[in-house]
Amino acid sequence: MARLRIGVLISGSGTNLQAIIDACAEGRIDGQVVVAISSLDSAYGLERARKARIPAVFIDRAKHETIKSYNHAVRVALEEHDTNLVVMAGYMRLLGKEVLNAFPGKVVNIHPALLPAFAGASGIHDAWDYGVKVTGVTVHFADEEFDRGPIIAQEAVAVAEDDTIETLEEKIHAVEHRLYPKVLQWIAEERVVVHGRKVRVL
Ligand code: GRF
Repeated sequence: MARLRIGVLISGSGTNLQAIIDACAEGRIDGQVVVAISSLDSAYGLERARKARIPAVFIDRAKHETIKSYNHAVRVALEEHDTNLVVMAGYMRLLGKEVLNAFPGKVVNIHPALLPAFAGASGIHDAWDYGVKVTGVTVHFADEEFDRGPIIAQEAVAVAEDDTIETLEEKIHAVEHRLYPKVLQWIAEERVVVHGRKVRVL
């Protein structure tokens, strides 16, 4: 595949966005972040993008009468920057069909738990509250439902006796920041092959 032109979708602090920006700058990802798009104006990730001189776009759901028109605006922003890979990193909205169809097989997401366990907006807390001894991180292709598409990579994180929710969060984020750039580079190298739900990494 051509050098990655990554469009990152965010809604929050953007630490994964930062990890991807840094990995591109250091040559660990053969590509660049061409745009960061946020569903929230207050997302600190927008500031991170600006600091890296990357176009930072806030798309306001309130300005769109329908979810369809909001998703259309997301697609247009991605295409305006010649995106060839869409990376969801803490994006708190469902991606519409229109975006998925515009980038077939080229939309990925990260989730801070071992899917299909603890899908949803608070994966780390839900796993902690459940009392699991092992949780982790999942990177997967996105489809029309939250946290459901074919899994590309998972890494386990053990919950230690002396962990608190805060230390567990730190461990999981550290894994995310290492794993996501690694998977994006596999995609850049065309090593990720999908057969239905099964993904092989060559
Ligand atoms: C990450 O834990 C990611 O897995 C989840 O949302 C969080 C986003 O964090 N989907 P950040 O905005 O990248 O700091």
